[in-house]
Amino acid sequence: MVDGLERQLRVHLGIRLNMRSLIYLALGASTVSAILPVDTPSCLAFAPSSNTVNFLAKGGRAALPPILTSPSDWPGVHRTAADLALDFQRTTGTKIPVKNLTTTSASPTSSGPAQAPLSAPAAIIAGTIGRSDIIDSLIDAGKLDVAGVRGQWEAFSLVHVPSPMPGVKDALVIAGADKRGTIFGLYTLSEQLGVSPWWFWTDTAPIQRSNGVFLVRGSNCSAGSPTVQYRGVFLNDEQPSLTNWANEKLRPAGSDLPTFRSNFYMLMFEVILRNKANFLWPAIWNSMFAVDDPMSQFLADYFGVVMGTSHQEPMMRSTPLEFNKFAQGPYDFSTNAENITQYWIEGTQRAKPFESVFTMGMRGAGDVPLGDSTNIDLLGKIISTQRQIIQDVFNTTDQTSVPQVWCTSTHLAACLHLTNEVQNYYEEGLRVPDDITLLWTDDNWGHIQRLPNDIERPRWGGAGVYFHVDYVRDYKWINTANNVQSFQQLSLAVEYNATRLWILNVGDFKANEIPTDFFLSMAYNASAFTPDNIVDYQARWAAREFGSTQLAPQIANIVMNFTRLAAMRKPELVDPTTFSISNYREAERMSAQWDQVLTAAGTVMKQLPARAQPTFFETILHPINATANLQALYIAAGRNMLLASQASNSANAFSDEVGRRFEADIALRDEFHTMLDGKWNHMMDQTHFGYSYWQQPMQDSLPPLARVFTIAPALAGTMRVTIEGSKGAWPGDNVNNCANGYGCGDPVLGTLSPFGPTSRFVDVSPSGPLGFSFNTTSFTPWLTVKGGSASLQSNSVPHRIEVGVDWSKFPSNASGMQNGVLRVTSSVGDGVNVTLPAVMTSIPQGFKGFVEGDGVVSMEASHWTRNTPVHDVAFVAIPSFGTRAFDGVTTMPGLSGNFTPAGTGATIHRI
Ligand SMILES: *[C@@H]1O[C@H](CO)[C@@H](O)[C@H](O)[C@H]1NC(C)=O
Ligand SMILES: *[C@@H]1O[C@H](CO)[C@@H](O)[C@H](O)[C@H]1NC(C)=O
Ligand SMILES: *[C@@H]1O[C@H](CO)[C@@H](O)[C@H](O)[C@H]1NC(C)=O
Ligand SMILES: *[C@@H]1O[C@H](CO)[C@@H](O)[C@H](O)[C@H]1NC(C)=O
Ligand SMILES: *[C@@H]1O[C@H](CO)[C@@H](O)[C@H](O)[C@H]1NC(C)=O
Ligand SMILES: *[C@@H]1O[C@H](CO)[C@@H](O)[C@H](O)[C@H]1NC(C)=O
Ligand SMILES: *[C@@H]1O[C@H](CO)[C@@H](O)[C@H](O)[C@H]1NC(C)=O
Ligand SMILES: *[C@@H]1O[C@H](CO)[C@@H](O)[C@H](O)[C@H]1NC(C)=O
Repeated sequence: MVDGLERQLRVHLGIRLNMRSLIYLALGASTVSAILPVDTPSCLAFAPSSNTVNFLAKGGRAALPPILTSPSDWPGVHRTAADLALDFQRTTGTKIPVKNLTTTSASPTSSGPAQAPLSAPAAIIAGTIGRSDIIDSLIDAGKLDVAGVRGQWEAFSLVHVPSPMPGVKDALVIAGADKRGTIFGLYTLSEQLGVSPWWFWTDTAPIQRSNGVFLVRGSNCSAGSPTVQYRGVFLNDEQPSLTNWANEKLRPAGSDLPTFRSNFYMLMFEVILRNKANFLWPAIWNSMFAVDDPMSQFLADYFGVVMGTSHQEPMMRSTPLEFNKFAQGPYDFSTNAENITQYWIEGTQRAKPFESVFTMGMRGAGDVPLGDSTNIDLLGKIISTQRQIIQDVFNTTDQTSVPQVWCTSTHLAACLHLTNEVQNYYEEGLRVPDDITLLWTDDNWGHIQRLPNDIERPRWGGAGVYFHVDYVRDYKWINTANNVQSFQQLSLAVEYNATRLWILNVGDFKANEIPTDFFLSMAYNASAFTPDNIVDYQARWAAREFGSTQLAPQIANIVMNFTRLAAMRKPELVDPTTFSISNYREAERMSAQWDQVLTAAGTVMKQLPARAQPTFFETILHPINATANLQALYIAAGRNMLLASQASNSANAFSDEVGRRFEADIALRDEFHTMLDGKWNHMMDQTHFGYSYWQQPMQDSLPPLARVFTIAPALAGTMRVTIEGSKGAWPGDNVNNCANGYGCGDPVLGTLSPFGPTSRFVDVSPSGPLGFSFNTTSFTPWLTVKGGSASLQSNSVPHRIEVGVDWSKFPSNASGMQNGVLRVTSSVGDGVNVTLPAVMTSIPQGFKGFVEGDGVVSMEASHWTRNTPVHDVAFVAIPSFGTRAFDGVTTMPGLSGNFTPAGTGATIHRI
């Protein structure tokens, strides 16, 4: 992976420098107060103080405080209020009642017999402005000021109101500007109470509030409109794990019902709303959302979730499955327009009662690549047909009343294609109708390909982003997403006002909770995120998920490190040659970092209470252990092949290690599948060893391994000597010993200087049936030798000798390179001379900086000595940004008002 200076510099600097830019300022809707997980301010307290009002006493009480709602409110509000009541039970053991009121003066009635007059010292009052009698009467009575949120998308006021109504002394009042405003207000209290939005998916233990619950006097937890209007997830590549899991857990045994029905989707709707998101693209591979279970589409709207269909499935139909089932003829608009139009009319009629974002255009079976005018004409016809359908079915000439989005495909080529398509549109004089949201995609790896330009940004429909933390071709198994990388890219989207719609491809959903939480948090309130506070976010996340503020910083550190390491090379794409065994000790350094983070995770696991351990295992320890194990397995496989080519018996020990690690992989999978009585059985069904083309392998299998014959010594003898920086082996011939591969000289190590590595390694290993011992003799006074003698068995792993230079003994008058020589001599008569060249280089007095050593100058991108902004643009370092180094740099803001000609922009220098 690392092959020298040029590569390193490119890795450290070039890639980042070439990227467009970055900004972390959130523009647009910036009225949302900072709402990160478990962030302050809190409207609830869990111990009394002079500033609190008793709400729910320890162990409950005879007259429980109610959640008050109005019968006329949205069903989703009533449903969420019931969730909040349940969350009180989860955290305090006491479920509080939900009661319907029609006015603030009446006693609670709703259906059924009349109830006793309200007499609750405290209450939670929740409702939607204009839809809830109780909220409207509070506003009319001047007890509640909602001027700051009224009419704002998904905004809510959440404040303490004293004496809201007769019989109630204090209340927390949630007044949503719309139905999801109210729902998000209710779930804000759930989260403050101690119920994670992920409770079902990550088994997060509710925080126990054993001292009771109190309202904070004068508190205000209101929130404005989210940064991104439609934000959610896309279940894609949902096989094998999610599909197998759902078939086992959510389908009656032996039935052949479709996999993803409303019992599955209700889990999705809840986790989406608890994360204050609102949008879903349903599973597509073998599923028809609206057909498999007619309740699903209804329930999405009932819960309050907006549905869409993926980039390739226009007009709210699962295509091609539905088309093949219900329509006739080819899915090709140029030959079958009539049937396709009818098919789309039916999808639109079916979706009409519900909140949806319509995917427009056409791709897939009737692929319409643009680029020539015929196809542009055809696409123009398709879109005008679709808009006519919307006009007819919704009986409206106002297309803006039905949100529409347009994208082409997930795949890199096709997504770049959208760029061309749009450009072609302009060139051909065609326009994507102004109200259609243009969905820009990343390259499937979290690098956004293009964002709206000056002409596109003011469009009414705006722009959105399709982002991946799972990709069918390269990474489906486990979480490998670096949130810092996502932060940088999504910040650009915010800056470019691509905030109408964000959709995240989450694969099987399970295992990607950490990056999904981050994506949805940023979509909700991007202005809360800066380059410097991603670690803080991760620590707040940890405090919420593990109920421990003490361990939170440590856990955040572990998450930052493991995702940075995992993102360096996705597990599916590792092979025995990925990390160099011979050069730069790359394999060792990778292993050491994984070992460190695994040890740290193992230590935290033991410190956590039992109730928090499943969550930690699922989200952190399992992915670390499994990925560390996979990496180590491939490194062992690489050593196995190399040592076999070097005629060393030690190859066999590494082949054994590969076998053990394969067993460990299976053990980890089994642990995931059997924990919590098998709740997550099948969620780790994804194969991850042995990718050979884009599709996953149908079974995990190991890379080729070598076994070395041990009953006779190598032709050249019993002792094998191998060295750092070479794949050769001595004594005897090896293709890598010199250009000819035979009759080569003794091994020569890479030159040392005072500024490079401090030593080189020489490995000694066995061949044949005999054990032996060996000694190292130095012929040069300035050579230092560590570990120069040992006894090896015939099955030992290589013994490592470190050879360095004692610069105090180095000839001070020597000019140029000097050779040190040592000899390794075995007890059975083999001997090899090894040469270490060294050169005494020096730096001018007072010089500070990075000096060449080993032919390389290596530095982190942020190690600049001069940072020169131009106009308002400057380079900024972001910790953990970039997948190969510890930090990365980018320019901010990314979208400067000042145009700088090429070559005259901001610079960083290192001298
Ligand atoms: C983004 O939208 C806001 C609000 O409409 C506007 O003020 C701002 O200028 C836009 N930014 C860009 C870069 O177009
Ligand atoms: C309140 O009224 C609505 C509408 O009739 C109903 O759906 C809901 O279940 C009621 N809530 C309670 C707690 O009775
Ligand atoms: C359209 O569907 C009808 C049946 O509804 C079928 O007879 C006809 O062949 C189809 N048209 C094409 C072009 O396939
Ligand atoms: C369509 O809208 C028009 C104007 O609002 C109204 O007069 C008409 O009744 C509507 N048609 C249907 C079928 O609802
Ligand atoms: C995370 O990486 C940093 C930088 O290498 C290191 O200092 C820290 O100890 C690591 N933490 C863990 C838990 O691995
Ligand atoms: C990692 O997984 C292996 C195999 O299940 C297990 O033996 C080991 O204890 C695990 N390590 C930690 C730190 O949990
Ligand atoms: C290595 O050195 C030790 C101590 O001087 C000696 O006993 C032993 O025989 C030596 N072995 C070889 C292989 O030269
Ligand atoms: C090994 O190096 C020493 C010191 O330079 C030299 O005396 C000896 O002849 C060398 N042995 C071989 C086999 O080249």
